[in-house]
Amino acid sequence: MLEFNWKNADEAVIGKEHGINVKNEFENYKSKVANIISDIYSNKNISGKWLAWMNLGYNEELVKEINEYAKSIKGKFDNLLVLGIGGSALGGIAVTEALLKPYWNVLDKEQRNDMPRIFFVDNIDPDQIKGLLDILNIKKTLVNVITKSGSTAETMSAFMILKDMLEQDLGSDYKKNIVATTDVTKGILRQISDKEGLKSFIVPDDVGGRFSVFSAVGLLPFALVGIDIAKILKGVRDMDKALSNTDINNNIAAQNALIHYLMDKKGKNISVMMPYSGRLKFVSDWYVQLWAESLGKDKDLDGNDVNVGPTPIKALGATDQHSQIQLYNEGPNDKLINFIRVKEFDNTLEIPTVFQNTGISYLGGKTVNDLNNAEADSTRVALNDYKRPNVTITVPKVNEYYLGQILYMLEIQTAIAGALYNIDTFNQPGVEQAKNYIYALMGRKGYEESAKTLKQKINT
Ligand code: PA5
Repeated sequence: MLEFNWKNADEAVIGKEHGINVKNEFENYKSKVANIISDIYSNKNISGKWLAWMNLGYNEELVKEINEYAKSIKGKFDNLLVLGIGGSALGGIAVTEALLKPYWNVLDKEQRNDMPRIFFVDNIDPDQIKGLLDILNIKKTLVNVITKSGSTAETMSAFMILKDMLEQDLGSDYKKNIVATTDVTKGILRQISDKEGLKSFIVPDDVGGRFSVFSAVGLLPFALVGIDIAKILKGVRDMDKALSNTDINNNIAAQNALIHYLMDKKGKNISVMMPYSGRLKFVSDWYVQLWAESLGKDKDLDGNDVNVGPTPIKALGATDQHSQIQLYNEGPNDKLINFIRVKEFDNTLEIPTVFQNTGISYLGGKTVNDLNNAEADSTRVALNDYKRPNVTITVPKVNEYYLGQILYMLEIQTAIAGALYNIDTFNQPGVEQAKNYIYALMGRKGYEESAKTLKQKINT
């Protein structure tokens, strides 16, 4: 299982001014947190509570369906092109970057076990999209278009470009190169899929985009590049069982949620996610969306104006020791740093004993693993010296099982934090507003009035 260490958020290490008495606070919040956990777990099957993501780890039928589809098309495509944005892309990027062999797309077919390369289009930069389309053999590319709402302009415009290209190259056979992931009944992509007879998978009801990584949104692309999705879900289930424990002393997601909540009250309203593993780099991007969209809210559940939400920041060890750490050590003491440490890397990489009798000969004979650990330890100790709170999640290895655990732990942590803030963790009116403005500006039917007002505002 993952380990969680909060001792560097404690006043015993970083002092009373910036630390909290963690054990005492666990005691103070024991019954409140127990109620939150039991509410979350008992509401997970209630429609409209947006907690159906808690059931995704148990969907063996879906695993079977996805694996059968993946088997049926194995070897047919050189590339998998995923179109999606936000919650429809970030989990996919985080998991594939962590679990596929590094530099997957430059490996040859044999090294990729006959699996396709994988590309994500999660932005609308015309130069980047054109650049990618120029290098892909489109006939040998499977397009997985993912959008829960079925209408997101960024995703659908990329899809329209791909559909057109595929149809030009393949005629009516183009459908074989598309698989859609969207709502079961609602949305334009669902209508298109049904009308055109596209292969499709479902984003289940009551699962928001940023909580959808263990639905077909993530599982389908993972299986298509050969990742063992059953192992991911085993990690999710084991973590789910552990986190159903209502005692905060035995629940690491509740502990980190409460520490964040209390640190925010002490003015540490920035949550930095800093894995010491390049493979986990994009877990931070995924976390940033999860934390920001879930907790950044203007009203609480009683209708009061609150404008809450700790700002999430992504960082990477050791790279950002040479960029952000100066600020973290000496700038405003307004952050809680979350380290993710890996106990055992897949490889041990020795540093050869070259350049003897020079200023760098001390490195020879050590390993890159030693260096990584030394850097993580020294950053942690320096932060303590500067009285900057930090916590550490330790993962035994980067593999399917533990990645399932990390992501699920952070999801439950977010749900508990939202309940502590007494806000609606699962809506995103701020995102929807921006989407509606885009529809209006791009001339979507039904948005004419909004377009007029917007254009006036833009021109003033
Ligand atoms: O978490 C969310 O709800 C959002 O970030 C969505 O995932 C994002 O806006 C994409 O939406 P959709 O999947 O409907 O295209």
